[in-house]
Amino acid sequence: MANDQIEAWLQENRSFAPSADFAQKSNVTEAEYGRAHSDPEAWWLEQSARLTWTVAPTRSLDWNPPFAKWFSDGMLNASYNCVDRHVDNGFGGKTAIHWIADAENEERVISYSELQQMVARCANALLALGVRAGDRVAVYMPMIPEAVVAMLAIVRLGAMHSVVFAGFSAEALASRIQDSDCRFVVTADGQFRRGTAALLKPAVDEALLNCPSVESVLVVKRTSQEVVWNETRDHWWHELVDSQNSTHQYESFPAEQDMFLMYTSGTTGKPKGILHTTAGYLVGAATTYSNVFDIKPATDICWTAADIGWITGHTYIVYGPLLNGVSQVMYEGLPDSGGRDRWWRIVENLGVTILYTAPTTIRTLMKWGTSHLIGHNLSSLRVLGTVGEPINPEAWMWYREFIGGNNCPIVDTWWQTETGSIMISPLPGVTSTKPGAAMRALPGITIDVVDEQGHSVPNGHGGFLVVTRPWPSMTRGIWGDPDRFAETYWSRFPGTYFAGDGAKRDDDGDIWLLGRVDDVMNVSGHRLSTTEIEHAIVGFHLVAEAAVVGASDETTGQAVVAFVTLKLSDDDQSQDHAAIIEQIRQHVSRVISPIAKPRQIILTPELPKTRSGKIMRRLLRDVAEQRALGDVTTLTDPTVVSMISGLMEQHSTED
Ligand code: WT7
Repeated sequence: MANDQIEAWLQENRSFAPSADFAQKSNVTEAEYGRAHSDPEAWWLEQSARLTWTVAPTRSLDWNPPFAKWFSDGMLNASYNCVDRHVDNGFGGKTAIHWIADAENEERVISYSELQQMVARCANALLALGVRAGDRVAVYMPMIPEAVVAMLAIVRLGAMHSVVFAGFSAEALASRIQDSDCRFVVTADGQFRRGTAALLKPAVDEALLNCPSVESVLVVKRTSQEVVWNETRDHWWHELVDSQNSTHQYESFPAEQDMFLMYTSGTTGKPKGILHTTAGYLVGAATTYSNVFDIKPATDICWTAADIGWITGHTYIVYGPLLNGVSQVMYEGLPDSGGRDRWWRIVENLGVTILYTAPTTIRTLMKWGTSHLIGHNLSSLRVLGTVGEPINPEAWMWYREFIGGNNCPIVDTWWQTETGSIMISPLPGVTSTKPGAAMRALPGITIDVVDEQGHSVPNGHGGFLVVTRPWPSMTRGIWGDPDRFAETYWSRFPGTYFAGDGAKRDDDGDIWLLGRVDDVMNVSGHRLSTTEIEHAIVGFHLVAEAAVVGASDETTGQAVVAFVTLKLSDDDQSQDHAAIIEQIRQHVSRVISPIAKPRQIILTPELPKTRSGKIMRRLLRDVAEQRALGDVTTLTDPTVVSMISGLMEQHSTED
């Protein structure tokens, strides 16, 4: 793989020593890596003491590849661990969730005791509706506290939540409900987006036309919009939940009790129901949250700016923070609801110390410019996190400089829906950081980068990212499809977890993620990473965002096609597009190699993104190859693709 750009960054000595950024005493030290490495299973059993057990486990791992069990003789209740035990320990008055609405001046402060009562009432209501241990309950909710309450109440009963992102269509919701035969749905009448109320329940009504398994629907009233009501099936939250008893005696469940499903897309069209079970997942969430963000529960104000509809929201809004008993911010709106400085007002007003977001958001904030930061005191921040895709060094540096004031460690955290919790990341105050690198496997996690034959590649080389030993929060399978589970993750390198990502170890042995291997291109026999070329293009001063795909080409096998959005200052507006395109091509040629020079560059005002913010490269490949478009239903705005198809004819250049 061509890695000249990474090398260029390294040659500039862009490496930040841990102590330079971090005055605090970290929760763990360098010694933790060695302790965990010498006996990972013993180390994880030790970490399991972060939970309060009814019956403490004596076993760590039972491994029957590819099926793992962790802490299998232990018994516990997930919801008790997130909520009640903090009240029992005297923290009932502490803020659990400081919820900020999409609208200005609307907020709710919920203490751990209030959360306990809300969860108890919801659990009692779900019991009354007939929810029993093992049932699947779909949750299709906006970012409101009731979403968290519902999740905690469901797992309190030993049932499973299957949270479906509220931006998904009725069809997507229906297919997820059907795949796991959900008996119940928790939803809301609607939600707010930049001040506008939008309906949610009609999508549920439509989905349920094709979901005979669903018996009851619990509906939060969030807006004052009219919704169609089914008297026998639908129940208002404020009627059913609010009238329940505010105590609920929890039951203990086995460590391996099924806990939740999270649907994610694979290489085929059908989404996979990724299964997580209770104790291993919770141990992973609690341990990684504490270590990676160096959480100090007494003083931190944590903000994971994600949606509960994704795994990041599950692990780092709901379970990780609540298990650690922190106070956190939960925000309903978009980054620019109420103005482009909304985030910075939240950080300043609430004194946020830990901020966790995605590269795509960082690039958007960057595009909006630093003028929105002026006058906001962000000095409370002490750790900044990023997740979801490889972060380009420019965005990393911007985050560090403008948001972190050059003194917050940036933790670039690599993980997946399937891994349940963070796997690769620096540790604040312990690991040095480099712009664009996820650096090191966490204590207790064993990562390797291997070639086609499964052999470790030496430092300085690229290959496939694998996890060589089981870990507690690993998925236990794909719902209803053990063969697909074994095939997708465990067959390419038998006995080893194949993540689907390309990675490189630099000369120091630090890990750089290079994007999905399904996005690796082969141009004239050279292997090129789409991510690497994107980084190069984004490094050009006029570029805001870029997506690169490999389009089939008669001569070279594949050719590089780039879709680019520009950021033009007033002075730059007059520049000729053809000239800019040529400058970008020369820039890529210079930064990576002439081989990587895009055959075509299409300038577009927007890129097609999924609702989780991922660029849909599959669709861009269709556009680049002028094929009929595949499924566009998961896009935030399906019209973006047809617009780009049009631009493809107007603005492209060819050699
Ligand atoms: C894929 C997993 C984990 C929560 C959000 C995404 C990519 C994730 C990073 C990172 C480079 C990353 C990988 C991975 N990814 N984090 N820090 N650097 N790539 O969860 O939807 O399951 O996606 O996201 O390609 O395989 P997901």
